[in-house]
Amino acid sequence: MSKKIQIAVVGSGYVGLVAAVCFAEMGHDVICVDNDEVKVKALQGGDTLIHEDHLPELLNRYRNERVRFMTDLAEATRESEAIFIAVGTPQSESGDADLSHVEAVASEIARSINGYKVIVEKSTVPVYTNEWIRRVIERNGVGREMFDVVSNPEFLREGTAVSDFLHPDRIVVGADSERAAAVLSAIYAPLTTGEYYNVENIIPGPFTSTEPPPLLLTSTKSAEIIKHASNAFLALKISFINAVSNLCEAADANVEQVARGMGLDSRIGPKFLRPGIGYGGSCFPKDVAAFRSVAEQMGVDFSLLSEVEKINGAQKKRFMSKVQSALWTLRGKKLAVLGLAFKGETDDIRESPAIDLVEMLLAEGCAITAYDPAAMERAKAELPVSAQMGYASDAYAAAADADALLILTDWREFAELDLVRLNATLRYPIVIDGRNLYDPHMMSEHGFTYMSVGRPAAKPVREAVGA
Ligand code: UDX
Repeated sequence: MSKKIQIAVVGSGYVGLVAAVCFAEMGHDVICVDNDEVKVKALQGGDTLIHEDHLPELLNRYRNERVRFMTDLAEATRESEAIFIAVGTPQSESGDADLSHVEAVASEIARSINGYKVIVEKSTVPVYTNEWIRRVIERNGVGREMFDVVSNPEFLREGTAVSDFLHPDRIVVGADSERAAAVLSAIYAPLTTGEYYNVENIIPGPFTSTEPPPLLLTSTKSAEIIKHASNAFLALKISFINAVSNLCEAADANVEQVARGMGLDSRIGPKFLRPGIGYGGSCFPKDVAAFRSVAEQMGVDFSLLSEVEKINGAQKKRFMSKVQSALWTLRGKKLAVLGLAFKGETDDIRESPAIDLVEMLLAEGCAITAYDPAAMERAKAELPVSAQMGYASDAYAAAADADALLILTDWREFAELDLVRLNATLRYPIVIDGRNLYDPHMMSEHGFTYMSVGRPAAKPVREAVGA
């Protein structure tokens, strides 16, 4: 049996909350600390605050028992052997990560240390952050033998965060002392020994007790770079396929075929080769900028990352041009928008290219009726209801009498629309798909003018099916 460890997780955002309930699921005792009292109360009451698969189930199973929520970081520090820092590292104006929350937490931990502690960076931070945390703690009078700072980056994706946490491709532990490495290895032992995968009612995923996930032990600095480099590389892969999709449009080729042909090469792999309207979310835009800024500060030319950002921004403008080429003038056009979240199966709208596009369309004088299965409440704060901006209760209500339908988020349900009904609902059967959810041939068979990304536009071939 793996050893039970008393863990504190500081921050109850996506990473912190998911880590807290997943550590409990792995058998540990967890205190999740947040300085927002309202949030703590909500979590104690079972409200997950975010839309994430399996989270309500795990929160209900462990809240107020194996996972306690509190605002008192000092108490959590005193009670715990390992303290995970999972607070926000927002982007500052220069593109750097703003580490003031991390520093504040480190100082507070230092003031309450009452025995050896492992302090773990879980937030995405630039290389050298571990050294700063160490310095801050020492400045507060804590001896070197009383603590270690470890980097244990998180690779979870929103929407599948719980299953990503419990079925990780790899667990990266950056530790410069054997003592700290041993604590982290013990924390992850239920996964790395395969023990967890033998338990009944586990969160499903690819790993089994005979094939558990690997734990990679590195230096703290390498671990910090692994996280930034991984996210920047994935963003680069997306920008690369977006640039290829532009070339496909110019050459009248089909990017789906090209991506498939590339992805079958096992050195390239098929994932993250979906072209679209550019990447968004709370990680990629911020992490690419932060990694670029770290390189700059260290005198390393990494202008490749600026290109990645440039292509990403241009992808939205290209989509705007597509809308314009389909509709001619935009002022006064009534458009249905499907999707506001930065990707499907989440309610998160941070850095969402869909929100940016709606803003651009509103600025051009379009009237928008939007539908998103989960992100509308959050979107209303950015895009308040007005004469120009409305929200609908489903995709067909959004499409009613619209001059065209725009697909901006890859929600699964948007790929399963009743095309006959959709055609009858729209004023003009025009679909401009920023996520390539439909087969152009099928769309033309159903009577649509259909434009997507990196694929030839489709025109209605005959009367709409069922018309
Ligand atoms: C990402 C990383 O995947 C994860 O490892 C890290 O810990 C946090 O950042 P997330 O932001 O949840 O996770 O979303 P992800 O699924 O990676 O998608 C990011 C953005 O890229 C979305 O806007 C998505 O629509 C876009 N994307 C993704 C593409 O445009 N094409 C693709 O092929 C894949």
